[in-house]
Amino acid sequence: METQPTSSFVFVLFGGTGDLSMRKILPALYEAHRAGMLAATSKILAVARHEEDRDGYLRWVTEHVKAHVAKRGIDENAWVSFIERIEFVKIDLGNAEDFALLRDVVKDLPGIRVFYLATGPSLFVPICRALASVGLNENARIVLEKPLGYDLKSSNAINDAVGEIFAEEQIYRIDHYLGKEPVQNLLALRFGNALFEPLWRREWVESIQITIAEELGVEARGIFYDNTGALRDMVQNHLLQLLSIVAMEPPHSMDSDSVRDEKLRVLHALKPIDALEIGKVAVRGQYHSGVSRGNSVPAYATEPGVKQNSTTETFVALKVEIENWRWAGVPFFLRTGKRLADRVAEIVVNFRAVPHSALGASALRAGANRLVIRLQPNETIRLYCLAKKPGEGMNLSSVHLDLAFDQFFKEGQMEAYQRLLLDVINGRLALFVRRDEQEAAWKWVEPILNEWAAAGKPKPYAAGTWGPAAASAMLAQHDTCWLEEEN
Ligand code: BG6
Repeated sequence: METQPTSSFVFVLFGGTGDLSMRKILPALYEAHRAGMLAATSKILAVARHEEDRDGYLRWVTEHVKAHVAKRGIDENAWVSFIERIEFVKIDLGNAEDFALLRDVVKDLPGIRVFYLATGPSLFVPICRALASVGLNENARIVLEKPLGYDLKSSNAINDAVGEIFAEEQIYRIDHYLGKEPVQNLLALRFGNALFEPLWRREWVESIQITIAEELGVEARGIFYDNTGALRDMVQNHLLQLLSIVAMEPPHSMDSDSVRDEKLRVLHALKPIDALEIGKVAVRGQYHSGVSRGNSVPAYATEPGVKQNSTTETFVALKVEIENWRWAGVPFFLRTGKRLADRVAEIVVNFRAVPHSALGASALRAGANRLVIRLQPNETIRLYCLAKKPGEGMNLSSVHLDLAFDQFFKEGQMEAYQRLLLDVINGRLALFVRRDEQEAAWKWVEPILNEWAAAGKPKPYAAGTWGPAAASAMLAQHDTCWLEEEN
């Protein structure tokens, strides 16, 4: 486990009373503090307009953040010393004088300056401009949360404006999937083992599936989600990032730009989606009422904040192709959705059958090798192989080798946000999305966004199932099916 403390820093948190600060950012900072990873003199400076002063803010933190942290067990002494790190500034974003006040507070605090914008994207540019107006952009790092824009045009507008104030090396665009331990482990699996890499190509791989399935619905985020949909919320970022890590060429080192250059090459090699073909390679769905874990749950269209006749998709399945030597002709099937049958994120690599089966019909029936890399809820790798059934005759059956990471590594696991925040403080950019990656991803999804906005509507699926039948039909055309195993 990394226990070297960071350099001293001041972490300015915009949106200090928001949901993300409450659930992710402050708990992650607490964990890093408890583990002795934060330099002693470092401060967290929360910025919000809802609280009056530091005492009020600390009451809010104790009431809301402590409850989240406590779920995983809390060290009371560490909590008290964590709270001592927190300062507060009340800011009205429209008021230039408030930023002068912020500058005066920050200037007296030592260390690297990190500005974390846990706010809606419409505030990114105004906040950056206000920071620049008081000179706070110099030698600072800025962290931008997703969604960064609504489409290519709006994301370019934000990136252009932020880019006038901060250099690309100062900008940390968060995709929290990149901070997840198992996603890191994918790099270790692919580039640390001689065993897999020679097989990781079209000659040996028949198809690849990447699923991020959620059991939850849109919860309290109806207004946001209804204007966003699953393609923007999950595909443009998390799924395309996972895809690029699964498919990239080996980078020559793990430094930020080597890894990001290789991911970018994959995004550039994605076969453009032809508007006339969308019906064949993309399925959108929307959940109706159904049963989730034994409880009746409502339809998406009746969730708070959602328009009654909404055509927003809560499910997406895609067939993607990568136009390069390694992957030509191999379909990558991507899928994500809310209110599905299970919460699971996994990558399934289906290998080709042996070129000639000398072992008879049972070998053909038992199928080919398959590698299942499960990212959550539990981090495991399962390799399916064929073995002979005991007894007379040559009858084969599919068996599997299992690797459960929590049995090997009993401690040291870090939540995605903890890792990413430490990376910002330590100046490591590899796990943050570079502007060109983001642009390439928007460009690729845009024809689908446009087509879906112009015509048709999502196919219904019952909450608690695996999505519309059309998603299975798409795979059936390639003689395969989604892997849906019990957790
Ligand atoms: C977020 C999306 O980026 O990722 C949410 O906005 C989604 O809609 C979440 O629920 C999923 O993240 P995780 O880490 O819970 O799989």
